[in-house]
Amino acid sequence: MALINENYLKLQGSYLFAEIAKRVANFKIENPTANIIRLGIGDVTKPLAPAVIEGLHKAVVEMASAETFRGYGPEQGYQFLIQKVIEFDYKPLGVSLEEDEVFISDGSKSDVGNFQEIFQTENVVAITDPVYPVYLDTNVMAGRTGDFQSDGHFGKVVYMACNAENQFKPELPKEKVDLIYLCVPNNPTGTALTRTDLKKWVDYAKEHHAIILYDAAYEAYIQEDDVPHSIYEIEGAKEVAVEFRSFSKKAGFTGTRCAFTVVPKSVMAFTKDGKEYPLNPLWNRRQTTKFNGVPYIIQRGAEAVYSPEGQQQIRDIITYYMTNAKIITEGLKSIGLQVFGGVNAPYIWLKTPNGMDSWSFFDKLLSEAHIVGTPGTGFGPSGEGYFRLTAFGNRENTEDAVARIKTRLKI
Ligand SMILES: Cc1ncc(COP(=O)(O)O)c(C=O)c1O
Repeated sequence: MALINENYLKLQGSYLFAEIAKRVANFKIENPTANIIRLGIGDVTKPLAPAVIEGLHKAVVEMASAETFRGYGPEQGYQFLIQKVIEFDYKPLGVSLEEDEVFISDGSKSDVGNFQEIFQTENVVAITDPVYPVYLDTNVMAGRTGDFQSDGHFGKVVYMACNAENQFKPELPKEKVDLIYLCVPNNPTGTALTRTDLKKWVDYAKEHHAIILYDAAYEAYIQEDDVPHSIYEIEGAKEVAVEFRSFSKKAGFTGTRCAFTVVPKSVMAFTKDGKEYPLNPLWNRRQTTKFNGVPYIIQRGAEAVYSPEGQQQIRDIITYYMTNAKIITEGLKSIGLQVFGGVNAPYIWLKTPNGMDSWSFFDKLLSEAHIVGTPGTGFGPSGEGYFRLTAFGNRENTEDAVARIKTRLKI
């Protein structure tokens, strides 16, 4: 008799986006001519930069002749891309990395989801609330979270509430935790942590022999000087942190798929009898066993991100999205809404007016302004009373949406 992994039965469904789709479909039936603007999507809308397209094309041509054809590549990624990552993403920050500390992959979602596999199930996991759901769900699947409770929490997970009162900065857990997920800049709140904030986490991790799983998928959107671009800018982080980066939001690779994870050889975890063991060879073993590398063509496309033209072109696209973020933020503030994020991230997190719950605000925004956003509760219990809008739309829709919110929303 084949038994299933019953941890999967504990997962709390993909209720959020299914429910959004259902409500939008119902609204469309009742209002067939309504022009709906979607500010809920977490996907980019701009095409790949011309330099990236050129890099991809050249690689496609190489695949057509026997002399330059590539089959299986190194599971960890090609050196040409790893070297660019080290030189452009870390060296300018004063962070030195060796080539075998960078692992190229097909996405941060898979890496951040898979990484927990190399840890014991007994580890206590700490996540922020609200949270990017992958951290939680992959630990549920692994049996690390205990059961789901009526208060919306899993029994064995330490939730760090992030709200307007604490400026969306997670507080150090009172209990001892082993694995800490931090997402900076944050999805969904759009807020960020400074060097001083992060130093506390690195110190905590060192003191408690914990590991920080640092998701920096939105690093390219950082605008403020006191927000670090890498956790390794913080003294001691190379002993306790693994960093996840992605080309998805940085360079529009959401459908093209390329990312990387940094596992310094100095990051140590422990065997049950207290012996130190580096994570780097474990992750290398995990990847070489279960993953066969990112396509050569795609890695050449990612390499082109680092050419002078590529750098300029992706900077322009990020500026475009961040201008959208500014337009949304200023528009909402002008009608008295309380708005967070949108400065170092393409996400705007707003407090629903008059104490409305997140879903009621969803319905209100849809019916009065014909705009779709994402209810904060979809990201965790502490998201109740908040709402997420994204800056990934085009300028015309963004401006139109803001005008509608200003003129049609009754608050
Ligand atoms: C916080 C965060 N991490 C990771 C990802 C996934 O990135 P990738 O496209 O590289 O899998 C996303 C995508 O929305 C995200 O919001």
